[in-house]
Amino acid sequence: MTDGQGGTGAFAAKVFGVDIGGSGIKGAPVDLGRGELAEERRKVLTPHPATPDAVLDGVVEVVRHFDWSGLPVGVTFPGVVRNGVTLTAANVDKGWIGTDLASRLGGRLGCPVTVLNDADAAGVAEVAFGAARGVKGTVIVLTLGTGIGSAVFTDGQLVPNTELGHLELDGHEAEKRASTKVKEDEDLSWSHWARRVRKYLQHLEMLFSPELFVLGGGVSRKAHKFLPLIEGVRAEIVPARLQNNAGIVGAAMAAAAAAGDAG
Ligand code: BGC
Repeated sequence: MTDGQGGTGAFAAKVFGVDIGGSGIKGAPVDLGRGELAEERRKVLTPHPATPDAVLDGVVEVVRHFDWSGLPVGVTFPGVVRNGVTLTAANVDKGWIGTDLASRLGGRLGCPVTVLNDADAAGVAEVAFGAARGVKGTVIVLTLGTGIGSAVFTDGQLVPNTELGHLELDGHEAEKRASTKVKEDEDLSWSHWARRVRKYLQHLEMLFSPELFVLGGGVSRKAHKFLPLIEGVRAEIVPARLQNNAGIVGAAMAAAAAAGDAG
């Protein structure tokens, strides 16, 4: 049986993924067999202020661009998400706290919607298709961007909503010391910033003793500029592999998993 999206099985071939970020709302149908975008992604600029209503309009625009109807959609959100409800809003409009994103979006799109934390989504994709594939034990995926997102896995199993970017480092929240936004805002050199990232990783290592750190976010493309500067961490440290599309792929995977559970 075909699923109407060019593949076989209920949702085996393509599910839609959307990544809500600080600068853009990006989405595309995802080829779940390969962990890749099945079509070129569509991006609209994130509205400012990024209120729930304005962002929902953006997500709907991205999904409608593809004529997507009825089939599951997965969406990332840069905050804690439980049962489709967004519970924190560190770097987005505070109106998000307590918003039932899954129901509101599902109502507008007329399809099942699954929502998860943005770093969790990126991590899920890296574990399935990228830098953490097949790694046993504890893996910590960090997204370094406007904030710092975290996804913690043991033997490939996600512990959701870990929020390790808000751990205290030198009397500040870690993401206020070591995010890439801070690097830009404070005009830090690569070596200065790498020292902060090292300190943060050492702190996480003291708490979790992971086998592997995967560093994601846009800066992972420039890993050669700072990874060699990070010494004194026992765990292996590697750049993320799916880079910009990890969130979209992970969102689609979560939606497919939810559809499988429901069916
Ligand atoms: C949020 C996290 C998010 C991270 C990256 C943090 O400020 O609290 O939920 O994953 O930023 O967007």
